[in-house]
Amino acid sequence: MDLTATGTEGVTAASASAAPPFARDLWYFALLSRDVKAGKLLHKTLLGEPIVFGRAPDGAAFALRDLCPHRGVPLSAGKMQDGTVECPYHGWRFGPDGGCRLIPSLVEGQDIDASRIRVRRYHLSEKNGLIWIYMPADERFAGEPPEGPPDLPLDPTQKPGLVERQLFPCQLDHAVVGLMDPAHGPFVHNVWWWRKPHSIHAKAKNYGPSRRGFTMLPHAPSKNAGLYKLIGGRPVTEIVFELPGLRYEIITAGTSKVFGFTSCTPLTATETEVTQVFFWNMGWAKLLRPFLQPIARIFLGQDRTMVTLQREGLKHDPRLMLIRDADMPAMWYFRIKKEWAAAKAENRPFVNPVPETTLRWRS
Ligand code: FES
Ligand SMILES: [Fe+2]
Repeated sequence: MDLTATGTEGVTAASASAAPPFARDLWYFALLSRDVKAGKLLHKTLLGEPIVFGRAPDGAAFALRDLCPHRGVPLSAGKMQDGTVECPYHGWRFGPDGGCRLIPSLVEGQDIDASRIRVRRYHLSEKNGLIWIYMPADERFAGEPPEGPPDLPLDPTQKPGLVERQLFPCQLDHAVVGLMDPAHGPFVHNVWWWRKPHSIHAKAKNYGPSRRGFTMLPHAPSKNAGLYKLIGGRPVTEIVFELPGLRYEIITAGTSKVFGFTSCTPLTATETEVTQVFFWNMGWAKLLRPFLQPIARIFLGQDRTMVTLQREGLKHDPRLMLIRDADMPAMWYFRIKKEWAAAKAENRPFVNPVPETTLRWRS
């Protein structure tokens, strides 16, 4: 989606035709720890790149380009053998670091140095049941990432309490913009247990810049957002967005804490996986899982329905609009993304373009 100012302040048009390159030199949420099983290989396309995930003998997750350097067969079609990935075609073996360990066809005297053959390796980080992958701009990138993945406000031992994952048939930007859009709630999520159209009222929320995004500063949740009542007490919620497409909602009520993590992870230019993970510190909350799981599924499914409908319109390559103030977070998203790319290209620090401000809208 390309953002071009139309001249009217705050009103912009976006052309949905050309998919922009994905933001690089960033950590993306890739998988849940439980997806990657010892002794098994798992294929996943991320940002259009074929990747094979596995676990080394010590349990550490690893990721390699899912393409054998010999003749291009996906390594994920092979198997784990003696702590290496064995290609199904000619049995070449690769270590978790991507180095070739064995070429079975070689006989004595055929001195090909296998160790000089490498598959591209990706940096992973695994914490709290989440696996992150570093996606560099330069595919020959071999160093250590300059910083680790996002530092989530969780205890080291906390694991996902609830997970809902859905494939959105849209480009990343549409998934992200849909996620941060405050005005669709009463129309898309108009179910009795969330909120109804007639409950629309004017809202004012304070925002400020955060690391690579913006924060809706701590506030009491809307009175028309019924689900918050479950947590009890007087909840305070803080919502953070940051590149590449991450949203954190931190809900605190007394000693109870719920952390909602949402990632829009681009698989290809036209498919985005949206994963919502909830963590909590209240032991009793797991009893609610059978009840919360379908709610999460319905809720995310409503958003998915909208981007699926939107896809119909986008086939005609319309010009789109972003209006103040409800679409301001979306405008910030595009500015942040642009600034991130510019800062990288010019080899200078990222300067967050988001101001401290109050946004007003009805929802
Ligand atoms: S294609 Fe992989 S070993 Fe030949
Ligand atoms: Fe939504």
